[in-house]
Amino acid sequence: MYSEKVMDHFSNPRNVGEIENASGVGTVGNAKCGDIMRIFLDIDENQVIRDCKFKTFGCGAAVATSSMATEMVKGKTVEEALKVTNVAVMEALDGLPPVKVHCSLLAEEAIHAALWDYAEKEGITIEGLKKPKDDIYDEE
Ligand code: FES
Repeated sequence: MYSEKVMDHFSNPRNVGEIENASGVGTVGNAKCGDIMRIFLDIDENQVIRDCKFKTFGCGAAVATSSMATEMVKGKTVEEALKVTNVAVMEALDGLPPVKVHCSLLAEEAIHAALWDYAEKEGITIEGLKKPKDDIYDEE
């Protein structure tokens, strides 16, 4: 049911933890399953993501997608990080079962929420970034 890469990132997740004084933090949740994901970004003065960590209170697919997503945004500029969509993360994991696609959406939303937080703190606009939903339980 799960690819080897999903199993690897689930059993041995990368970048678990928190970043103190993070440049941006994003927390999102899914009302149906109750899973919650938080992403921390450390962004340098050139808008490059130096470090990224996550905490996920959720299913195995959510853990695996958070792990892969953090690996994919590290070293990227904030604009490039926007292109790390849930589809890109799923492809990098060699796919997810259809019932688990929503888990990968959490990772994309959490990154966007963290980028939004960073942009607000810095008083900047990131091209193409939409405001995350206020209520983390709004999302289906
Ligand atoms: Fe909800 Fe996976 S079942 S995030």
